[in-house]
Amino acid sequence: MAMKDHHIKKNSNLSLRRYTFFLFISVFCFVSLALVFSDFRGSTTKMLVSYKNNRDFEIKERGIPQIENSGLCDYSDGKWIYDPKFRTSLYANSCKEVFKGWNCISNNKSNAQDIMNWRWQPKGCDLPPFDPVWFLKRFSNTNIGFVGDSLNRNMFVSLVCTLKQVSLEVKKWRPAGADRGFTFLQYNLTVAYHRTNLLARYSRWSADANGGVLESFGYKEGFRVDVDVPEGTWAKAPSFHDILILNTGHWWWAPSKFDPIKSPMLFFEKGLPVLPPITPEIGLDMVLKHMILFVEKTMRPTAIKIFRTQSPRHFEGGDWDKGGSCQRLQPLLQEQVEQLFSLENNGTNVEARLVNQHLFKALEGSSFHILDITHMSEFRADAHPSTTGGKKHDDCMHWCLPGITDSWNDLLVAHLNSIHGGNIKNNPHLEMSAW
Ligand SMILES: *[C@@H]1O[C@H](CO)[C@@H](O)[C@H](O)[C@H]1NC(C)=O
Ligand SMILES: *[C@@H]1O[C@H](CO)[C@@H](O)[C@H](O)[C@H]1NC(C)=O
Ligand SMILES: *[C@@H]1O[C@H](CO)[C@@H](O)[C@H](O)[C@H]1NC(C)=O
Repeated sequence: MAMKDHHIKKNSNLSLRRYTFFLFISVFCFVSLALVFSDFRGSTTKMLVSYKNNRDFEIKERGIPQIENSGLCDYSDGKWIYDPKFRTSLYANSCKEVFKGWNCISNNKSNAQDIMNWRWQPKGCDLPPFDPVWFLKRFSNTNIGFVGDSLNRNMFVSLVCTLKQVSLEVKKWRPAGADRGFTFLQYNLTVAYHRTNLLARYSRWSADANGGVLESFGYKEGFRVDVDVPEGTWAKAPSFHDILILNTGHWWWAPSKFDPIKSPMLFFEKGLPVLPPITPEIGLDMVLKHMILFVEKTMRPTAIKIFRTQSPRHFEGGDWDKGGSCQRLQPLLQEQVEQLFSLENNGTNVEARLVNQHLFKALEGSSFHILDITHMSEFRADAHPSTTGGKKHDDCMHWCLPGITDSWNDLLVAHLNSIHGGNIKNNPHLEMSAW
């Protein structure tokens, strides 16, 4: 991943003079690297997030992320620190939007209260906790859409519950075909969740008695996936929302539904089968390519496009359907994280980093910003519903709420802050004097 090498890590405590010098050197190295990696095109920024808003410094060149502020920080690199005083504005388990299986407090998970006592400490900077009042003011007259699978719903619920604590006047509705959504009336801020597993449209497929080209390959049952057609649940989302947060991943590695033998994914492009038939991994690349283009074409130029990286699972001792569980009560250590997730080990949860490889490749050169929550979440084997998820098997995939997706939203805010000098500046909806 060439892009991984483009991080600039800075410590804000340097004296101004040293700071300027180091900044110059960093920028110089950064520019050199950007030129060396000729495949690094366009304006995709990855986790280059500023955390101070008082100094202006911009680099606007091809292939170089826009850096408006002094503090540059790679929020994806850091550690969890036990800090019970950190989060003061936590919502209660009575928030109605919390899906029953994720409500670890109500379900009496033994460490449910403790999960939020950990604070993500990035290297060389701080990640402030979410401030709901500030957020409502800052993003008044704004539509924010989460588009993706249940893990994006997990993140959506966290945001809605956090905001509802300070603003109860809400209208519940389904904007632009959403699964669910809320408008915070006092601020005219709408937050919606558009449910889609693959982003692309898919439906059951069965062999035709009269035969056909897929039948000639021996296929009898499967799922037709139209790589160039967005699923109807979110087709209107890009023209409705000002900020869009996409994800996909888990369903591409879910043999329970898309069994490679019994019910494989069969890919179609322009209405015709892709021939010869391709694997889901190549199908994912095609879907990402088309969906990214679709969003870029249909969204207003000032809108903000974000792709969230893959949420890691923590099945140990087997996969979800092979008795795997997640019974840890504390975050993992760095060595344990590598054991569980490194590509070399090819363990049960290896798909987290595999999916990201596909994402990073597809997003290179696009106008999407990458919200990289993978590494920070890899540590949190303690934060899944586990046996209290109300399923036959342990739930080591979704997250307890309150929980980790609250930290994802902290990161989302930091990220939106960092791009305000770029995209948001020209967006009349997002202009706020109280910046
Ligand atoms: C959780 O504990 C409370 C108090 O002991 C009990 O009333 C409730 O039924 C428990 N909930 C579950 C889902 O086990
Ligand atoms: C509310 O926000 C939406 C989205 O930005 C905008 O289209 C609409 O005009 C706003 N409504 C009012 C009353 O300001
Ligand atoms: C990783 O493991 C899976 C099953 O556990 C296997 O099918 C696959 O071939 C392995 N991949 C590599 C690159 O070793």
